[in-house]
Amino acid sequence: MRLSKALEKMAYVKSLDVTDKEAVNKFYTELPAEYGSIDILINSAGLALGMNPSQETDIEDWERMVDTNIKGLLYITRKAIDIMKGQNSGLIINLGSVAGSVPYKGGNVYGATKAFVRQFSRNLRTDLFGTGIKVTNIEPGAAETEFSIVRFKDKQMADDYYKNWRPLKS
Ligand SMILES: NC(=O)c1ccc[n+]([C@@H]2O[C@H](COP(=O)([O-])OP(=O)(O)OC[C@H]3O[C@@H](n4cnc5c(N)ncnc54)[C@H](OP(=O)(O)O)[C@@H]3O)[C@@H](O)[C@H]2O)c1
Repeated sequence: MRLSKALEKMAYVKSLDVTDKEAVNKFYTELPAEYGSIDILINSAGLALGMNPSQETDIEDWERMVDTNIKGLLYITRKAIDIMKGQNSGLIINLGSVAGSVPYKGGNVYGATKAFVRQFSRNLRTDLFGTGIKVTNIEPGAAETEFSIVRFKDKQMADDYYKNWRPLKS
């Protein structure tokens, strides 16, 4: 909210749960006219939950990763395409992950959601060829953000995770 205050005169800031399809549709319907065109969509919202092997995970964590990383991205993207189509231009940047291509212990559903993002990006690029809308998928390696705090649900475990090697930093 501090950021939204700082950007008050320069930007339209709205918090949104991307897993809520109705809320996403409402967000687009209520976009102020001066913010009604979209040059770039960055699909960054996403999360990993837990790092246990599949046989020791909670189905609710799996569902939340699918709902956010896959379904949320689809809700946001489908509506943006309608707007970009009318402009004959636009750039969609998806945040995949190296975890979408490289397996690791405990990566199970998180990696699978990012494999979805990779293939969906490629298929979307194919569908949108000739429309002026471009699609790319960024696949970072481990970056030190709030990601691991969310993943481990524990600050100390998150700090420990980054010890003894050098993650990407902003
Ligand atoms: N960090 C890494 O090692 C890494 C590596 C490769 C790829 N990635 C990908 O990069 C993207 C950004 O991650 P990050 O590292 O910046 O993690 P982060 O610091 O935890 O940020 C994730 C962001 O996603 C938002 N988000 C989560 N669920 C949401 C929902 N249902 N609706 C709307 N927003 C939601 C969070 O908002 P709130 O804070 O309000 O919940 C937060 O702003 C993710 O897609 C992640 O999978 C991260």
